[in-house]
Amino acid sequence: MSGVSTVPGPDAARPTPEPTPDPAIDAAVAPLEVAPGAGREWWRSAVVYQVVLRSFADGDGDGVGDVAGLRSRLGHLHDLGVDAVWVNPWYASPMVDAGYDVADYRAIDPAYGTLEEAEALVREAHALGMRVLLDVVPNHTSDQHAWFRAALAGDEAARARYLFRPGRGAHGELPPNDWESCFRGPAWTRTRTPDGEPGEWYLHMFAPEQPDLDWSSREVAEEMLDVLRFWFDRGVDGFRVDVAHGLVKAPGLPDAEGRDRRTQEHPGWDQDEVHDVWREWRALADTYDPPRVFVAEAWPARRTERLPLYLRPDELHTAFEFEPLHVAWRARPWRDVVDRSLAMGELTGAPCAWVLTNHDVVRQATRYARSQWEVKGTNETERARWPTEVPDLALGRRRARAAVVLTAALPGVLYVYLGEELGLDEVEDIPAERRVDPIHRRSGGTDPGRDGSRVPLPWSGDAPPFGFSPPMTADGSPGAAPWLPQPARWAALTAQAQDGDPASTLSLYRRLLALRRERLAGAGPLRWLDAPSPDVLALAREGTDLQCWVNLGDGPAALPEGCRVLVSSGPVEGGVLPADTAAWVVVGA
Ligand code: NOJ
Repeated sequence: MSGVSTVPGPDAARPTPEPTPDPAIDAAVAPLEVAPGAGREWWRSAVVYQVVLRSFADGDGDGVGDVAGLRSRLGHLHDLGVDAVWVNPWYASPMVDAGYDVADYRAIDPAYGTLEEAEALVREAHALGMRVLLDVVPNHTSDQHAWFRAALAGDEAARARYLFRPGRGAHGELPPNDWESCFRGPAWTRTRTPDGEPGEWYLHMFAPEQPDLDWSSREVAEEMLDVLRFWFDRGVDGFRVDVAHGLVKAPGLPDAEGRDRRTQEHPGWDQDEVHDVWREWRALADTYDPPRVFVAEAWPARRTERLPLYLRPDELHTAFEFEPLHVAWRARPWRDVVDRSLAMGELTGAPCAWVLTNHDVVRQATRYARSQWEVKGTNETERARWPTEVPDLALGRRRARAAVVLTAALPGVLYVYLGEELGLDEVEDIPAERRVDPIHRRSGGTDPGRDGSRVPLPWSGDAPPFGFSPPMTADGSPGAAPWLPQPARWAALTAQAQDGDPASTLSLYRRLLALRRERLAGAGPLRWLDAPSPDVLALAREGTDLQCWVNLGDGPAALPEGCRVLVSSGPVEGGVLPADTAAWVVVGA
């Protein structure tokens, strides 16, 4: 453990927006361009923590998380044992889609802080030995971006950077094609000409406030390269790439004719020419020392065939392995997910990037708290059963703890999402009027959307805001309530309540990540072991004496005779692994 405090004093007032980082950080502040630690290949086995800035920690008392809050809590991430921090979009934005609608790629949103604070964050994370990844959103901008505003005002050069098309029908009153937005409804919105007449339509694969860029424009490509340079030059170690299978659309924008973008080839997604972009980005990243890295958010249909293309040695370094987000808590499907993913890794040489949850899906403690799917679920189907099936959160949390004991043992990169280390569950009962996710709005309120996984973290104390915000702002007025309501039950899950409790989820994550670093650095491939039941997964990592045993069944299972348990997701006694429990063991030691 470092000397950096894990849980700052309970609800201590932070009277100025500027946090006071631990002196240990100040002393070790590294120059901007120097990344921490040794090893240019750090990204092959790292643990990366995903920060939704808005929900992590609030430094100035306005109820919204910010850079100051993140800086003041870096010690928590350091003590957790992560190698890198990935910050969701922090750029200037109207926040229609939580910052995935960027108005200025080179500015920090004023609600989050300043560029100077962002630079300080990078230095301080580096000083603590953690890398910093940002989120780049190249498929679309905000409708408030200067380019799009100029385009709407009639500037032809600006229009050429987006996908404006005349409508179909006698008067152009129908969208140019039949594509659907990922957030429901048509993927086209009609504009008005500067003199108020109905005009052309523009494409938006997400919300109307997120117009798609036209990547056949060289200006677009050059601008995004320059954005990357801007942040790389500030010491940022890499980017998570939003919608990496988007960007390029089929020539002529033909109709999709009912093809489901998730399962079938669709002219709006996964076009071969997108790889030219990634090759150019990789070439730029490789000019830096140490080279900067990318992790792709890519959802191509025919995933096992098409995803490896993004991971060719001259393209993106890693891509999220998303299958665990939707796979049931059952042994066979989990084993298949691992096998499929490792097979892809063998094809490309890229490590798998394991995620159990993120800001787009229902938290795993809740997903595992209801009956498990016979087939793969989706976000929509998962959320649709909230009203009809009461979650057993104790069960869900037990399974979620076991799941991370499994994924931490797998070869590759491990992503940990905001508050996952506290065992947080999804907040399902946010009042409709407090929800801000465009999915909720665009579904006419029938789909609650993703806000329930983005509720501000509980740090300390017995009642909201649970130390998320200081009690007072800089001018002495009372702090605002968190931007989304926190449930009272989270009093038991604050970082402070879990710190020092050996049975807590926080202690489990700390122990697991420390052991992973100690025992699995440089470990070889995975080998499945014979297990006593089809409901049990058992694996070893070549070159180590470590085995991971996971019981996904209903009854207890025997562990190997004479084994020693290094860490387990729940109590393990008498050589028996209870249901919904996982353990790392060494045999014959
Ligand atoms: C994927 C991001 O994870 C999601 O949150 C966002 O809404 C879409 N891309 C659009 O940028």
